Amino acid sequence: MRRRVMAGNWKMYKTIAATSAFIEGLKARVASVDHCEVVVAPPFTALRAAAEAARGSKIRIAAQDLHWDREGAHTGDVSAGMLAEAGATHVIIGHSERRRDHGETDEVVNRKLRAALTGGLTPIVCVGETLAEREAGATRQVLDRQFERGFAGLTSSEFSHIIIAYEPVWAIGTGRTATPEMAAESHRYLRELGRRGFGETEAEGLRILYGGSVKPDNIGGLMSENEIDGALVGGASLDVESFAAIVNYPRARSAG
Ligand code: 13P
Repeated sequence: MRRRVMAGNWKMYKTIAATSAFIEGLKARVASVDHCEVVVAPPFTALRAAAEAARGSKIRIAAQDLHWDREGAHTGDVSAGMLAEAGATHVIIGHSERRRDHGETDEVVNRKLRAALTGGLTPIVCVGETLAEREAGATRQVLDRQFERGFAGLTSSEFSHIIIAYEPVWAIGTGRTATPEMAAESHRYLRELGRRGFGETEAEGLRILYGGSVKPDNIGGLMSENEIDGALVGGASLDVESFAAIVNYPRARSAG
């Protein structure tokens, strides 16, 4: 049984003070959660404060990006070791906003992914098609390319440490969510790519999160799909009540 992951990607929001207050509030609201892992990704400046506030709780802290080198002349960048020292256990890689704003390619994603694995961070690798690509019927081709190049050269053992986030670009920040069926179809396809590339066991264990306008009122439907192993939440993760409602989505008593 794959353990679900509910992750909040704060993007470029929240001060250090707001981060500490949020984590304190979230701690109380997720204290008894054991059906999923809870991850919060604040901006770099608030990582340390988030990790300190989360100490002793189940909340894990993710960075939103990293550089592939251990150290060096890379102005403005931060390495895996620095993130781990600040208290991060996870790192988001290849978010569509970084691909758009910083020209990140699948090759860059691959280098960052390797650096995260070497540095002992759990990578959350984002993939997903744009609206034009979906409308052109090219969703699978895009996922093929992102998967093939993004995960090139990994061993099966390395692959087993990765979390994938399927984030159709047209659903991010638009209020337009993929239906649970649409998301599940892409998740199934990504799992099939995992099977072909890395093996049955690795594919079965792979956690694939859905991201794109996840809200408290649509999380239940998304989580009713076995293929969807959690969510990467943007806007709705900025409010503690709303993120806690997503983490504590309605589920049957027997659900794991
Ligand atoms: P929204 O939930 O705001 O659509 O953002 C999704 C996202 O980009 C998470 O990484």
